[in-house]
Amino acid sequence: MRAVYPGTFDPVTPGHMDVVERARHLFDEVVVLVAVNSNKQPGADEEERAAAVRAVLPVEWTSVTVVAWSGLTATWCRRHDVGVIVRGVRNTTDLQNESRLAAMNQSLGVPTVFLPAQPELAAVSSTAVRTLGKVPPVSSGRW
Ligand code: ACO
Repeated sequence: MRAVYPGTFDPVTPGHMDVVERARHLFDEVVVLVAVNSNKQPGADEEERAAAVRAVLPVEWTSVTVVAWSGLTATWCRRHDVGVIVRGVRNTTDLQNESRLAAMNQSLGVPTVFLPAQPELAAVSSTAVRTLGKVPPVSSGRW
């Protein structure tokens, strides 16, 4: 089954990469969909953010691709025969927000599975990385 992992990725973090790493073991193909969240004003456009994700993707993750998209996630999924959306949840606030998003995407025909954040990554966020002004160090193939 092909899965889509949508997000703003402003910037991509070890938390995101951990979700990708686990999703690629669960699904035949994973598309990281660098999308637009109307509540956020990222510093770079989708194409630039997608290029940044591609740059940190280990080459051996051959079933993972990265796509930039400015429309609805569910529209992309329906056009590309995607069976499921994957989202990470860190805490109960994420779960509430993600449940609302998942219900909308379900009503548009695409179900969502949640992957709980690893405890050691639950405090990681794109906001924290932007505030610190740097992306945490990347080790090859292991986040
Ligand atoms: N571990 C650590 N951190 C994590 C993890 C994890 N496993 N998973 C997520 N995060 C963090 C990110 O670092 C980020 O932190 P921040 O809030 O400080 O920025 C945060 O959780 C979530 O950010 P992202 O996952 O990058 O993306 P976002 O939540 O902004 O993405 C999305 C939303 C999927 C792009 C959504 O807006 C979307 O699908 N947009 C496309 C348009 C669309 O379909 N809109 C429908 C909206 S309908 C509605 O809102 C009901």
